[in-house]
Amino acid sequence: MNSRDDRVEFVALFLRIILIYRKPFWCLLFAACLAPPLAGQAVDSLSASRRVAAASSLAAKEYAGGVPAAGGRLDKPEEVDEAKQFIDQSRFDLPLLPRAVRPYADSALTAFRALLDHLAPPARVRSLADSLERHLAAAAGGALVPMPLTSPSLARGAQVYREQCTACHGDAGHGDGPKARKLTGPPPANLADRGVMGALSPTDIYRKVMLGVAGTAMPAFEESLADSDRWAVTAYVATMPYGGSRTAAVFAAVRRQLDSAVTLRSDKLAFDAYLTFEQVEVDVRVKNDGLTNDLEGTFAKLRSRAAAGASATELTAIHARLLSDLERAERLVADQGSAANLFGQSFLLLLREGFEAILILGALMAFLGQAGAPERRREVAWGAALAVVASGLTALAIELLFHISAGERDALEGATVLLAAGLLFYVSYWLLSKVEADRWHAFINQKMRSALSSGSGFALGSVAFLAVYREGFETILFFKALVSSGGAGSGGAVLAGIVLGGVALGLIYIGINRWGMRVPMRPFFAVTGALLYYMSFVFAGKGIAELQEGGYIGTTVIEWAPRLPFLGIYPTAQSLALQALLLVLAAVALVWFVVRRAPAAPPRG
Ligand code: HEC
Repeated sequence: MNSRDDRVEFVALFLRIILIYRKPFWCLLFAACLAPPLAGQAVDSLSASRRVAAASSLAAKEYAGGVPAAGGRLDKPEEVDEAKQFIDQSRFDLPLLPRAVRPYADSALTAFRALLDHLAPPARVRSLADSLERHLAAAAGGALVPMPLTSPSLARGAQVYREQCTACHGDAGHGDGPKARKLTGPPPANLADRGVMGALSPTDIYRKVMLGVAGTAMPAFEESLADSDRWAVTAYVATMPYGGSRTAAVFAAVRRQLDSAVTLRSDKLAFDAYLTFEQVEVDVRVKNDGLTNDLEGTFAKLRSRAAAGASATELTAIHARLLSDLERAERLVADQGSAANLFGQSFLLLLREGFEAILILGALMAFLGQAGAPERRREVAWGAALAVVASGLTALAIELLFHISAGERDALEGATVLLAAGLLFYVSYWLLSKVEADRWHAFINQKMRSALSSGSGFALGSVAFLAVYREGFETILFFKALVSSGGAGSGGAVLAGIVLGGVALGLIYIGINRWGMRVPMRPFFAVTGALLYYMSFVFAGKGIAELQEGGYIGTTVIEWAPRLPFLGIYPTAQSLALQALLLVLAAVALVWFVVRRAPAAPPRG
């Protein structure tokens, strides 16, 4: 094979890799807003910041319900009164706020009250609320938008509701509990009424449960209910207008939030809508990965365009696209899949998740064959087999032992991916160092075996393990979601899909192996090494993105940086710093090769 053929092969391989990596950039959108851990802040000042942010956001929302978009007229005085109550109440929290933000918050609340008094356009009120929240978030170290730590349990929510809310709101939420008639102020809200609850997002409900409604009997549950219980009861209450269907409630909430995001051109509300969508994301992703990626991309676009002050026409166009995709997504989730459908989904799921791992395994195996150490393939096979077992055990542990939250899954995945990045970097370095034919000759005479037996085999096995494990337990959780979404008797179709997917992966593996055998050594090591190096670079970016998504590390967005998800490049300082480090290390390694080769050359002649 001549060098032109090699080049063609090389390019073909990279194109293939790029195809695999058109994976979503959803991580980063999510990550872009989740704030760094709240190091060193007094808990009090944090919860005060949360309360003020919550109250001003709720006030903006109530106000928008009571005044027309142009302002100047009072359509529903009670909504505006409620907004004023929230703002007045916030003043009590001023002294508890972090010192740095107090003067700003003080004047912002004063300005807020003035806007309400003068019936300013709701969009101005909203942007003041957003700005106040940004300042508070910066001073408090972030994370003011409350997020459930674990996915809220509806069963627990129903129980909390019975214990805490039925007395006033009634069993079905109609506002007709035994205590309702004895109240003097406004009657308890009808929580099953779409008209009443229609405007509230889960975050709003959560905030109302946390703060109560000043001037009414609705109590604050900040002290008396644990955070997880507040989220559980919020999730339960959110389903009440939708006959108890959680997905219907979530989709409805997403649509409402999008409406207000577009009307008020608020990137924050667009992000809230996205966070709400996250609750059904896995269900949709299992059914249609591409659609989910599209949705996430469009959510991100809405957010960034709204932040950039795009025109109403542009936002409306993005909105329309989101609505049509949401419609498709909701149908996917609501429909009970037919057997053929489930079979196809399960087949594609395994293929999609397993492709990367098979590629890495194939490259390693082919390398070992080339290197004349086929017996070392055992380690790779062991690594992969162990990973399958470990994936199963992890999925089981996640199911049985604890309800892992989306954030914790991100942490586990992020750590696995970063570990894989490190090992891939090491192995690629090792492979690339064999590119030099001279060294290769010396190497093949004897040294190969000793090198392979001195720990490198372990590294190869670990790479195989991580390559499989990183997708493994997630895939199993996906399959579980698929079986449970398919209803009774769907197990057979899903299993058939898994078997056929396994066969397809096997064929791909054999193909890579065959292909690997025909390539001459030098370019082969160059390609394999570069491939693994490239993956280590991609994994480094993705690992950081996962951790950012879970809020475990900070997200410092760099506006001008590119966003190339297939390269694992995200515009954040943290991910780029790690990738820059990898580049520097690669450059150092390269220089080191050259320097080491130079003095070795003359004696050899
Ligand atoms: C002592 C009676 C009482 C109890 C107990 C109570 N509420 Fe309320 N709740 C009210 C009243 C009264 C209102 C109406 C406030 C208003 O007019 O804005 C209300 C309003 C609400 C709203 C806002 C609806 C809207 O339109 O903005 C939500 C959400 C809510 N309650 C949820 C709950 C939940 C969840 C619980 C239990 C954890 C609960 N409430 C317990 C009396 C109560």
